[in-house]
Amino acid sequence: MSDSTPFAVEMREITKRFPGVLANDCIDLTIQKGEIHALLGENGAGKSTLMNVLAGLYLPEQGSVYIHGLPVHIDSPRTAFDLGIAMVHQHFKLVMNQTVAENIILGLDDPYFAPLKRGRFRPLRLDMQRVQRRIVEVSEQYDLFVDLDAFIWQLSVGEQQRVEILKALYRGANILIFDEPPRS
Ligand SMILES: Nc1ncnc2c1ncn2[C@@H]1O[C@H](COP(=O)(O)OP(=O)(O)O)[C@@H](O)[C@H]1O
Ligand SMILES: [Mg+2]
Repeated sequence: MSDSTPFAVEMREITKRFPGVLANDCIDLTIQKGEIHALLGENGAGKSTLMNVLAGLYLPEQGSVYIHGLPVHIDSPRTAFDLGIAMVHQHFKLVMNQTVAENIILGLDDPYFAPLKRGRFRPLRLDMQRVQRRIVEVSEQYDLFVDLDAFIWQLSVGEQQRVEILKALYRGANILIFDEPPRS
C-alpha cells in the first residue's frame, strides 16, 4: 500500500471521561485498510470506551477522528453506520425466533439492495427469495456461510456471530469492531 493511502481509521488524542474516571487519556489509534488489530489491556483500561467512541456511542471530550482520510464527527451510531463502521456486540442483538435472513434485513429501509441504494424506496411486499439472493451474494463475497432459513435459536454461538458479521456487511459496513467476541 502506498504511503499516500489514508488510514481507514485514524483516531488522534482521544480523551473520554466519566464521572471520576479518565477512561481514555489522549489516545492515538491508526488502522490501515485490510488490517486486523487487537486492543489488549487489563479490565477497565479503556478499550471498550475507545471503541464506543468510534462506534458513535460516546462523544469524546477531546480528539479527532478521520475515516479514510476525511475528518468526521461521529455523534451517533447512525453517523458511524453511514461511515461504514459497525459494532459486532459482545451480547448479540439477534431475534431468536426469527430466521437468519429475517434478522439480516431487520430494520432496513430497503431490504433488497442494501447497501447499494439504502433509503431509495420502501417495498410494500417483501420478496424473501430476492432478499436471500442478495444475502448469498454478500456471503459468497466474504466466505461467510450460514443457513439463511435457520432460526437463530438453532445456531451455535459461533454461527450467531457469523450472522452478526453478515448483517453488518450486508448493510455496507467496511470497518468492523468486535468487543470481546466469544470464541467458537
Ligand atoms: N458508561 C460508563 N459510565 C461510567 N464509567 C464508565 C462507563 N464505561 C466505562 N466506564 C469506566 O471507564 C473505565 C474504562 O472502562 P472500559 O472502557 O469498559 O474498559 P475495558 O473495556 O478496557 O475493560 C473503567 O474505569 C470503567 O469503569
Ligand atoms: Mg471492555
